[in-house]
Amino acid sequence: MSKSTKLWGGRFSEGISDVAHRFSSSIALDGKLWREDIRGSIAHARMLGERSIITKEEASAIIAGLEDVALEIESGAFQFNDSMEDVHLAIEQRLTEKIGAVGGKLHTGRSRNDQIATDERLYLKRAIPVLFNNASEVIRELLIKAEEYIDAIMPGYTHLQRAQPVLLAHHLLAYVEMFARDRERLAGVLSRVDRSPLGAAAFAGTSYPIDREMTAKEIGFGTTLGNSIDAVSDRDYLIELASTCSIIMMHLSRMAEELILWSTREFGFVTMSDAVTTGSSIMPQKKNPDMAELIRGKVGRVYGALINLLTTMKGLPLAYNRDMQEDKQPMFDAIETTGDSLEMMALILRETRFNISKMESAASGELMATEIADYLVRAKGVPFREAHHITGKIVSFAEDAGKDLDQLTLNDYRVFSEHFEQDIFEYLDPRRSLAEKRSAGSSNPDMVTEAIRKMESGIKPIITAIEYNCS
Ligand code: ARG
Repeated sequence: MSKSTKLWGGRFSEGISDVAHRFSSSIALDGKLWREDIRGSIAHARMLGERSIITKEEASAIIAGLEDVALEIESGAFQFNDSMEDVHLAIEQRLTEKIGAVGGKLHTGRSRNDQIATDERLYLKRAIPVLFNNASEVIRELLIKAEEYIDAIMPGYTHLQRAQPVLLAHHLLAYVEMFARDRERLAGVLSRVDRSPLGAAAFAGTSYPIDREMTAKEIGFGTTLGNSIDAVSDRDYLIELASTCSIIMMHLSRMAEELILWSTREFGFVTMSDAVTTGSSIMPQKKNPDMAELIRGKVGRVYGALINLLTTMKGLPLAYNRDMQEDKQPMFDAIETTGDSLEMMALILRETRFNISKMESAASGELMATEIADYLVRAKGVPFREAHHITGKIVSFAEDAGKDLDQLTLNDYRVFSEHFEQDIFEYLDPRRSLAEKRSAGSSNPDMVTEAIRKMESGIKPIITAIEYNCS
């Protein structure tokens, strides 16, 4: 252990142990936030100059120095390494190496506590629009497929048992609704992220006459956080985002699961192209839906991030605690995994063909049982419960006879109820059944076409991702 060389080392006579340094350094993760850190620092320095807390010349020297450091990091001339503690200290230290003691004035009236919260929020202001756009791409691909296959009928399932025929487009639009709500959630998180903690200092504020509005505006925040203790001590914005990412991953995994099932020989509903499938090193016939499986598999990481953040924050006394440094890994991982998975799903959709004849032939037979019951109710005035019972008997009879419902004769039907007449066979046509659907939001082809149109025009414009340059 040697004499402390840390920027905070004044009251220490000895340096931190190597093990403690290694244990506590976060540079490997928060180094990624250097753009945000420098942007925040430049705004802070300019404000210090404007408010005469430092001189204008000092502010200019600091800003020029920070811009230089940014160029150095960008070009690789200055690289972070394990000897550094975190991104804030690394940049400040490099600044001081370059411009001398005046660099030490940058940290007036602020703390790493408000700095890190600012960096994270800024990072999210860039990352959330990207996720939003990734989700929009999935929606777009779903709408393209819904339109392309607007006539295709498939068996709808409950309990993974064939239930009733639906339009494939209707099924795909169910996912559009889910991802549309995910986008709303992302936009909601973004609105709460867009508040500046900078100037909360360590947690209690500062006696320097700083201007928090000025820095917030310069950095591009919509507003400032009201309470300095809250500003540095909560991470609810990360938890909200991880929760939204978890919901997105849950939606993606259900879709992935269906595509995996549907690509089996047993279903045969979809064929994924070579671009998104892989072969087996031992079984030459295999074409495996690995990309969809990986989406399904990555869900655990994102749920893990959510639980990680919730657990880290649980029971933490106010204000800042070093525990909170552990938020970077789940934050980055949730965002990157969710973004990649959305991107992958959009590609899978683009690279998937639906085998409509296979789907359609699976969408008849016993799926029409509900129609038989409805026939008795609507055309013959039989109470629904009784109609359900009669139909159950017919299904069981057909099953025993090894026949489909449309292979039974009128006489077969009449054994179970005298109400049956020749027109029952019209009711066994899945297309007729779809056209008969009346309720709003149902699988009626006209309604589905209208829903596609509405979603296409209602789709919010893509949010422009915020790009940073450092000045
Ligand atoms: N690296 C720290 C983190 O990510 C920055 C804040 C450090 N503050 C402190 N008082 N040690 O949380």
